[in-house]
Amino acid sequence: MGFKNIVILTGAGISADSGLSTFRDSGGLWEQYRLEEIATPEAFHNNPTLVWKFYSMRRIEAAKASPNLAHFALVEYARNHPEKKVTLITQNVDGLHHRADSHEELSPLCMHGSLNESRCTHCGEIYFDDYAYFNLNGDYAPTQLNLCNESQRASPRYLHHYKLQYRKFLPLSPCCNQDLRPHIVWFGEYPLYMEKIQPLLRECDLFVSIGTSGNVYPAAGFLQVAKSHGAKTVCLNKEEILQHDLCDEFIAGRAIDIVSQYFKKLT
Ligand code: APR
Repeated sequence: MGFKNIVILTGAGISADSGLSTFRDSGGLWEQYRLEEIATPEAFHNNPTLVWKFYSMRRIEAAKASPNLAHFALVEYARNHPEKKVTLITQNVDGLHHRADSHEELSPLCMHGSLNESRCTHCGEIYFDDYAYFNLNGDYAPTQLNLCNESQRASPRYLHHYKLQYRKFLPLSPCCNQDLRPHIVWFGEYPLYMEKIQPLLRECDLFVSIGTSGNVYPAAGFLQVAKSHGAKTVCLNKEEILQHDLCDEFIAGRAIDIVSQYFKKLT
């Protein structure tokens, strides 16, 4: 019969083969940027322009990238196994899981937010936003990117339906005329969907972690929760992760090589 209730957690490593930087590998984002300056609420308060330059760069890079074999293999597994409950939780904000899932067969729970959304800092209203406000040289150059699909662009939540006001070149919310921030969960902030995620971790019989180093909580604690509730734990990653001892099975390699192989074998 095999596993009936599978939870998959992904991190930046699954998108590395799509050409997107991870955070903590050599040459990763946290080697190039000081996270205190661009990925905390305080950073946005102190220097919103620097933060928008960083997320404009990430939006431009994500728009250039395409989902890879590993992203598609997860959707294919869910499609081929309607008898099983398969849940995908991702720490990634790049939107590649969504783009690999055009028929919404395995919609991810994006616990750290999405690059193609911005949020009003006053009322919390969330808008689809596919603009980079700065180019890769950091110059002010609002540019529409391929980050939203047709239904998102047609949605009343699409930001650029509205005639936007700007303050110091930064967009203001149509709802409150207040600062808009990237809808990303920054350090020191509580992730999204935790009320959905926690029962899933307690009920699953297989937990698979893909392309995440296990440095950032609460995601880094999911493996332990699943294991303590009886699930088999499997880690697919280029190198051992911090919670290696909690893995019943570890498969080393690049996501594009090992993910489809693993799920093809998994009954
Ligand atoms: N295939 C498989 N694994 C890979 C590949 C690859 N091609 N390339 C790198 N990896 C592995 C690395 O060995 C590393 O263990 O992916 C992991 C990436 O780890 P991090 O860079 O720490 O990224 P992640 O775990 O997703 O970070 C978690 O931290 O910075 C915050 O909010 C951000 O969501 C992010 C969170």
